[in-house]
Amino acid sequence: MQHCPVLLSEAITLLSPKPGESICDATLGLAGHAEALLSKVLPDGALIGIDADPENLQEATKRLQPFGDAVQLVHGNFRDIASVLSTPVDIVFADLGVSSPHFDDPARGFSFRSDGPLDLRFDRTSGVPASEWLAHADAEEIAQALREWGELRGAWSITQSIIRGRPATTKQLQECVEEALGWRAPSAMAQVFQALRIAVNGEIQALQDLLAAGPRLLRPGGRFGVISYHSLEDRLVKQAFRALVTVHKDPHTGQDIETAMYRLITKKAVVPGPEEIVRNPRARSAKLRVICYPPPL
Ligand SMILES: C[S@@+](CC[C@H](N)C(=O)[O-])C[C@H]1O[C@@H](n2cnc3c(N)ncnc32)[C@H](O)[C@@H]1O
Repeated sequence: MQHCPVLLSEAITLLSPKPGESICDATLGLAGHAEALLSKVLPDGALIGIDADPENLQEATKRLQPFGDAVQLVHGNFRDIASVLSTPVDIVFADLGVSSPHFDDPARGFSFRSDGPLDLRFDRTSGVPASEWLAHADAEEIAQALREWGELRGAWSITQSIIRGRPATTKQLQECVEEALGWRAPSAMAQVFQALRIAVNGEIQALQDLLAAGPRLLRPGGRFGVISYHSLEDRLVKQAFRALVTVHKDPHTGQDIETAMYRLITKKAVVPGPEEIVRNPRARSAKLRVICYPPPL
């Protein structure tokens, strides 16, 4: 499938990269956003790209080759962004979640539409595949993951079926869900896969770490943008950004006791228009939020 960076023109407009600026793309993927951002900061600007997936990083390396020394690519997890960046940057950007090759390659186990090993890791060089996680997790852990990260009703009966079947492939997991939910299974499948993906990749903690570190890595005038794809992620982004732009008041006098260090660039999340959704149905749940760290007056 052709690679379509999500909310590309919106991200470029809101992050507004300028010649000479430095960028950290914390989820490089196939470098669609990175290439567009980078082309705006040349000739003197630079980009550091991070991705947990070595295969995506290899593809991105080819795509960004024409930019030469302006690009530095790092295999790693964005939860460690503070140790990757040695100096603050003008733009930090993250386009969370799964890329097209993850869905399209049955060997990665991300899609219930084709059979393959139940892996679901972004980084196959570390951690354990979902099949192994399910083989060792107890019922309470599995049920909690399904409830919290899949927001599933019927989590307990799916768990019982998983414990009996200990699925090793996407097809076997699908059969467990069907056994538990019957005719309701098809509508729950995406949530089951999402819950397991979040569990094996430690996605919630990684996002919390990124949201805590990212704003502090901005130079004065810098911008931080995040594209999320489901309500759990978006809630975390929204809450973290709201806390950063909120002025704290003295509870007794009502006077401001702290001025907010950051400013919202997007008052509401920016979402794809109908044309983009027709062109790229995977974009339908995307939400982009951006804050900035204004320079001192
Ligand atoms: C939606 S894709 C990014 C697509 C990219 N913006 C583009 O235009 O090609 C998300 C990427 O983030 C990576 N990723 C997910 N979680 C990560 C994490 N915690 N740390 C680093 N990379 C991560 C995935 O491997 C995937 O390549």
